[in-house]
Amino acid sequence: MAEAAAFPSIDERTIRDVLETVRGCTFDDFILAPRRSVVPSRDPAVIDLSCRLSRRITLKRPIVSANMDTVTRAPMAIVQAEEGGIGIIDRGFRPGEIDPQVREVEIVKRTQHGVIGDPYKIGASSTLADASMVMAHSGVGTLVVVDGDRRLLGLLTERDMRFVTRGDAPVSERMTPLDRLVVHRGGPLDLENAERIMRERKIKKLPIVDDAGRLVGLITARDLVRQRRMPFATRDAQGRLRVGAAIGATGDYLERAAELIRAGVDVIVIDIAHGHSIVMERALAEFRKRFGDVELIAGNVATADGTRFLIERGADAVKVGIGPGGGCTTRMTTSFGVPQLQALVECRMAAGDSGVPIIADGGIKRHGALAEALILGGDTAMLGSAFAGTEEAPGEIVHKSVLLPESQKTVKVPFKVLRGMASIEAIRDRLDVEDADKVELEEIGAEGMEISVPARGSARTIVREMLEHLCSSISYGGASSLGELRALFWADPRQFLIRQSPSARRESYDR
Ligand code: XMP
Repeated sequence: MAEAAAFPSIDERTIRDVLETVRGCTFDDFILAPRRSVVPSRDPAVIDLSCRLSRRITLKRPIVSANMDTVTRAPMAIVQAEEGGIGIIDRGFRPGEIDPQVREVEIVKRTQHGVIGDPYKIGASSTLADASMVMAHSGVGTLVVVDGDRRLLGLLTERDMRFVTRGDAPVSERMTPLDRLVVHRGGPLDLENAERIMRERKIKKLPIVDDAGRLVGLITARDLVRQRRMPFATRDAQGRLRVGAAIGATGDYLERAAELIRAGVDVIVIDIAHGHSIVMERALAEFRKRFGDVELIAGNVATADGTRFLIERGADAVKVGIGPGGGCTTRMTTSFGVPQLQALVECRMAAGDSGVPIIADGGIKRHGALAEALILGGDTAMLGSAFAGTEEAPGEIVHKSVLLPESQKTVKVPFKVLRGMASIEAIRDRLDVEDADKVELEEIGAEGMEISVPARGSARTIVREMLEHLCSSISYGGASSLGELRALFWADPRQFLIRQSPSARRESYDR
């Protein structure tokens, strides 16, 4: 799959030519000419959308949810990974507050597993009240009961505690003891055999122990069923969902990274507004010194120089986008930035055959722009506002009165908040900007804003619709996979690229 997932190599003259064509332009400035379709079906289950997130991580679907505190926490990251992409947990927690971010990573890593290598445990003499607290805190309904040497003694489930006063009574009173459990002892167990044992013995949980009876892992029927239902899910070698997490470039960033790595995070993102900077240079050097080759994404940049700068300093992927984001005001407040289509082509050109993927970050407002982002430079695309207001986005629903123009009636509409990570509201919450330890709020140059987004259904539905539309783009482009669409485009970009006049743009998008 790695082969199919790679961005095709592009000859220098072709990409320079395209760069000149798209200079100063973004997604809506171009439309692509259709070709003879060659796919019998536009079903994302049969069209290969695999792509590279970073040097060592491949995804089956090219979507990444943005590390914004109104977009990606565990629920969003779980949906994204289950649908074949990945979510990046934001760093919008106060400095020093590392645990809450770590907990989000842990929740994702424990959601769906092949073998749960480190299940939640409790001692036999702990009280039922303690057990109840561990269950509530972790969100799991089964605890493995072990002694001080990790030897398996039993299982305690929520069911065992139903209708029981959860006071000082010991766990040993209610657990199912070892002699009544089906256990796999010694040697590795593949998921197929685990499934067979669970079917034959009609059990839902299968603990695995070594020859000395020490707990090695736990397999649950629920996870096996989910594994089957989600063949595209993004998983690590142990079958757990993958997740990324963002850190800054100053303050507690190394300590934060260490804790996130300990919790099993798959990739760290050093994310600052201006990634082509000495702050980033120092952060990358320190990170590599301390964590070796842990998978690392860095950004944001929007120029060829910025891309080379990050690649030369060891980034495993480069996040591209200065100012296109829906919650972003950088271009208004600073007059700096690069139109996103130009940025993608320019950064793709700089990445060349380095093997370092590009993440197209921001500005994808309509589904069609996703195809452009992925053809013209992005190996994957990061989206924020597209997922704002969904069930999985963090934040409370607030009801606002909205005047309906037709009937002049006022109705209450549910909203959720989307805010730029550099908005004054987000900064106030985490009191942390990348270049200073202590700041006066009034002196912060905010580069983001807060907006209300109507609450809508699940992000899963949105991802699936996006993927269907992406497959339609592949069909219109005369290709049978994402990789092939890119190859066809870059073999002859002029056959595809049509610059839209203002009236063509109106014809395309005004509805
Ligand atoms: P979309 O358009 O998908 O973009 O909402 C998501 C990306 O926007 C960036 N972002 C910001 N950029 N100030 C900025 O300059 C901000 O406050 C801000 N908040 C988010 C970020 O790259 C995100 O992935």
